[in-house]
Amino acid sequence: MPTVMEEASSRIRGGHPHARPRISQPLEYSGSLDQYQHQDLTPVIGREYEGLQVGEILQSPQRDQLIQDLAITISTRGVVFLRNQDVTPQQMRYFAERLTLLAGCPESSGLHVHPLTEEGSELGDQISVISSEKQKKGGGLTHQLSDVSRFASAAWHTDISFERVPSDYSMLKIHTLPNTGGDTLWASGYEIYDRLSPEMASFLERLTATHDASFFHDEARRLGNPLRKGIRGSPLNHGEELTAVHPVIRTNPVTGWKSVYVNKGFTKRINGVTKDESDVLLQYLFNLLTQNHDAQVRFKWKKNDMAIWDNRSTWHCATYDYAEARAGDRVCSLGEAPYLDLQSTSRRQALDEA
Ligand code: SIN
Repeated sequence: MPTVMEEASSRIRGGHPHARPRISQPLEYSGSLDQYQHQDLTPVIGREYEGLQVGEILQSPQRDQLIQDLAITISTRGVVFLRNQDVTPQQMRYFAERLTLLAGCPESSGLHVHPLTEEGSELGDQISVISSEKQKKGGGLTHQLSDVSRFASAAWHTDISFERVPSDYSMLKIHTLPNTGGDTLWASGYEIYDRLSPEMASFLERLTATHDASFFHDEARRLGNPLRKGIRGSPLNHGEELTAVHPVIRTNPVTGWKSVYVNKGFTKRINGVTKDESDVLLQYLFNLLTQNHDAQVRFKWKKNDMAIWDNRSTWHCATYDYAEARAGDRVCSLGEAPYLDLQSTSRRQALDEA
C-alpha cells in the first residue's frame, strides 16, 4: 500500500521541496467582497470592482479576510481591476506581502527583486518602475518588438518565468499616461488549456520547457546597471543565469485548475522533443493565445488605476502605440516552484461540476 506521501508525490510533476505552497487544497471564497459592486469584463477573464480601495482594505478590521478573498478572486478571474487607487508604493508592497501569504505561498517566498532593479533605487528593491522613458533607453520586451518582430503580440509574457520560483501575483498601478493608447491585454492560461484536445493535453502534461531571459544581460549593459545576482525574493532565485525549467502545464494551488505555462517573452524550448518539434508546439500554443480574442481582456487605463493578476494562469501584453511618457509602479510576489498535480482539473470541468 503506498503511503499518503508516496501517493501524493506520484501525482505531482515538478515543484521543489524548498518552494512548495503551504496549502494542500484550493482555497474557498468567503463572500467578504460581495459588498463591492463588480462586473466581469468577459465570460472567461477579468473583473472590475467599483469603490474598492486597497488603502481602505489595509485599515479594515476584516483586512485578512478581504485580502484572501481578493487573492481567490484574482486566481479565479485571472486579473482584477481597481480604479483610481490612493495608495503609496510602500502600501502596495505591504499589500502584496499579505496577498501572497494569505494565498498560501511557500515560507521561502517573498517579494521579487527584478534583476534589472538598480541598487539603492528610490522606491526600494521590491518596486519595479515601469517607465516608457526607461524602456526607450534599455529595450527589454519592447526591444524584441522593434528589432526582431513587427507583431505587437511578440510581447505576450507572464512575469519572471525565467526564475526557478516565479511570480504568483503582480500588482501594477499606472500613474502617468499618454493621451490615448498604452492599453494592456491579459489572456487566460486556463482557457487555453481548455482548448486543447484531451490527447494533446495529456501529451503536454508530460513535458517541461526552458524559460530564458539572457537578453536582460544586454539590457543591464545598455542601462549601465549591474544585474542583481543576489537573492531575488527566494533562496532558489539567485546568480546570473536567468533560466529555469518548468512544467508546460501547471496547477494553480489556489483554484486547483490547470493552466498552460509557456510564454512568448521567455519560453525558448520545450524539452525532450527535437528543436523542430518544440518550435511547432510552441508556435501552436502561442497561436492559441494570440488568435483567441475570446480568451483575452483589454484594459484601458485611467490615472492611478491598478491591475492585480495571477501570473501562474495568465499572460499579459502591453501596447506600445504612443509617444508620450507612460509610467507606474509594479510589485511582484513569488509563489511556489511550478508543479502539475495530475489530479487537478480544468477550469471548465470544475465550473461544469459546480
Ligand atoms: C508588465 O509587463 O508587467 C507591464 C505591463 C504594462 O506596462 O502595461
